[in-house]
Amino acid sequence: MANLRVNGQERTYDGDPSMPLLWYLRDELGLTGTKFGCGAALCGNCTVHVNGEAVRSCVTPMSELGGKSVITIEGLSAKGDHPVQVAWRDNRVPQCGYCQTGQIMQAAALLAKTPGPTDAQIAEAMAGNICRCGCYQRIHAAVRAAARGA
Ligand code: FES
Ligand code: FES
Repeated sequence: MANLRVNGQERTYDGDPSMPLLWYLRDELGLTGTKFGCGAALCGNCTVHVNGEAVRSCVTPMSELGGKSVITIEGLSAKGDHPVQVAWRDNRVPQCGYCQTGQIMQAAALLAKTPGPTDAQIAEAMAGNICRCGCYQRIHAAVRAAARGA
């Protein structure tokens, strides 16, 4: 049995300890903003924050989450106005949209730790988040804009 917090709400989990967090979020809590892509930590679609770190929820078993705080895209900000979300809208980043939850969560974790990242730091932090539509230029521009507070 594990107690954890998801988007600020206390939760108790007593199911299979090997179940990936992504399944718990989507199937048990109905938080479907976090997407399944590869299931193997290769694409970044499923990125959420665990104790402030960007993690791949598809390969994070529930057994690792006792006492931890999970934030999903639904909990990133109350009104969808986190600086990264605002910059994403201003820069019209998404194309199909499928990868965008993971991109936003990855960028938000970067800026929480490194508020003024260099282009190289942005590239390094975002390198594991794949966009099949190839929106990389707009993604990087939006991260820069969010860092500037623009
Ligand atoms: S679905 Fe988790 S990294 Fe691809
Ligand atoms: S916007 Fe389509 S995969 Fe990134």
